Amino acid sequence: MGLYDCKIINLPKIIDNRGNLTFIESNNHIPFDIQRVYYLYDVPGGAERGGHAHKILHQFIIAISGSFDILLDDGFAKKTYHLNRSYIGLYICPMIWRELGNFSSGSVCMVLASAKYDECDYYRNYNDFLRKL
Ligand code: TYD
Repeated sequence: MGLYDCKIINLPKIIDNRGNLTFIESNNHIPFDIQRVYYLYDVPGGAERGGHAHKILHQFIIAISGSFDILLDDGFAKKTYHLNRSYIGLYICPMIWRELGNFSSGSVCMVLASAKYDECDYYRNYNDFLRKL
């Protein structure tokens, strides 16, 4: 799996003058079973998150509020995505180095993940990641 397996996914959007609604179903809108949800919030200006790759974890990232950039790197090519809509997310397959930054004030980054938290699933050193490709 590489950079070209990662993709922007448009989610269903139920437009309603009382407020819009978006939903996500495992293995329907995103290509994995959701085992965990976490979110980043109160991110200070200029902060960067990520800076790691996952061995087997699949993730789907949404800018629930505000905006931020995600740099993806499969060791051969890099691509940056700007997320700024709560009905559009980025699917990231395993073995992709990612860096998140340029968070807007008040932004919320929600992450759906295919497995529970496991520190052993991380490459936190870029050269270790490259060696395992
Ligand atoms: P990390 O995945 O490095 O955050 P990010 O990629 O958003 O920069 O995790 C930061 C810390 O939080 C680290 O000590 C592990 C812990 N953590 C959990 O305990 N459970 C989780 O589900 C996640 C994502 C992180």
